[in-house]
Order: sequence, then structure tokens, then C-alpha cells
Amino acid sequence: MKKLGVNIDHIATLRNARGEDHPNILFAAKYAYKKGADSITIHLREDRRHIKDYDLKQIVKTKIPLNLELAASKSMVKIALKNKPNYICIVPEKRKEITTEGGLNLKKNTVFLKKIIKIFNSNKIRTSLFIDPNINSINLSKDIGTKCVELHTGKLSTLIKKKLNYSYELEKIKKCAIVGKSLGIEVHAGHGMDYKTTKILSKINEISEFNIGHFLIGESIFNGLGNTIKKFKKLMK
Ligand code: PXP
Repeated sequence: MKKLGVNIDHIATLRNARGEDHPNILFAAKYAYKKGADSITIHLREDRRHIKDYDLKQIVKTKIPLNLELAASKSMVKIALKNKPNYICIVPEKRKEITTEGGLNLKKNTVFLKKIIKIFNSNKIRTSLFIDPNINSINLSKDIGTKCVELHTGKLSTLIKKKLNYSYELEKIKKCAIVGKSLGIEVHAGHGMDYKTTKILSKINEISEFNIGHFLIGESIFNGLGNTIKKFKKLMK
């Protein structure tokens, strides 16, 4: 059974629109977990546009499995080690991007990534690298020593939404998942996923976890958060 990580960043976006405390992030994390999320994902961005430091502090105090997405910077590593989430996923970050636009440049950052992955591994924090679906990145991820990779599904999701031919992109993801698993890496996937993408990607047995945010939170407006989580989990079976 694949696991579902529910990304609650955009509940924070809604909260921040009024600068008060509703909808409450800690309540959202607890509620999503109670309704079947296997973990909660938050991205503490450098500009703190949605999740804030106190959200992280509050969620790590609970027993909810927490996946913290963060940029590969010294200050973020320091914050992660201080708060000790269960999992971390290192993502590239550009200040002006709307969302995480692509995977990490592993070649350019190998030395630093190796160093921080080693630190997280020795602190018993499960490590993941957010990468584009190509075999080169899988091999480099193995070399860097990460426990998991998360394959960026943004391109596939866009092709599916635009009703364009997505078979080449899907094949790339499939191959990466097979090679990753054969190398002993846990393979996850995420970005831009909706019901249709989830149904298609769920057929890849080698993927063990999805991290889904924007669509799932948006759909909850109409359907309720609990029902939406249930619907995703059903599609993942
Ligand atoms: N996985 C990672 C690593 C991400 O950076 C994001 C976006 O924050 C997601 C998954 C979720 O993407 P979406 O909000 O498009 O579902």
C-alpha cells in the first residue's frame, strides 16, 4: 500500500491572507492525520510565504509523522536539526517561483548534499532528494547517500491536464522508479498531482509514497478534507 503525505502549505496560504490564526495549521495537521494521511508535509520556504517557523515547532511536538521540505542551505539545516522532523526532503528553491519548478541540480551540489545527507542520516532523520525523473539523477542520488528520492511529477501532471501525450514522461518516471528501487532507494513522487495523475501513477509498484498538496487542499473546499483524503487513498490502492 502506497503512503500519502498531505502537504498543508496552502492551508497556511489561506491563514496568512488574513494574518490571523484561522484556518489553524496544527488543527489541520491533526485532522488530516486522523482522516488517513500517512504523514504531513510542510515546506518552510526562505521567504516564509506560507509555513512559518512556529508551525514547524508546533507540529514536531505531536506524534504526527512530519516531512519537512527545505532548501539546501546552512540555515535550513540548522532549523531542521533543532526541530528534528521525522523526514526531510531537500528541494531546490528560487525566491520568485510560484512553486518548486524542477528537481535539484545534484551534479552542481554533490559535495554539500553529501555532507548534509550524512548529518541527517546520523541524526536518524529520513532523507529524500527532490529530483527530475532521469536515470542520471537516480545514480547521483545513490552516490550522495540519500534513503529516498521524490520524483518531480510536474511535467507529467501538466501533460495529463492539457490532454497531451504523456507516455514518454510516464515511461521516464517508471524507469526511474524501477532503477531507484533496485539500488535500494525508496522512491516517492509528487507535484501537480490530482485524481487522474494519482490513478495513473498508482500503477507503478516501485513508488511507495505520494506527496500531494495544492489540488488536494483546493478540492477539500468542495468535498471536505477528510473525504478528499479518503478519495486519494482509494485511488492509490
Ligand atoms: N513534493 C514536493 C517536493 C514539493 O515541493 C511540492 C510542492 O510544495 C509537492 C510535492 C506538492 O506539490 P502540489 O502542491 O503541486 O501537490
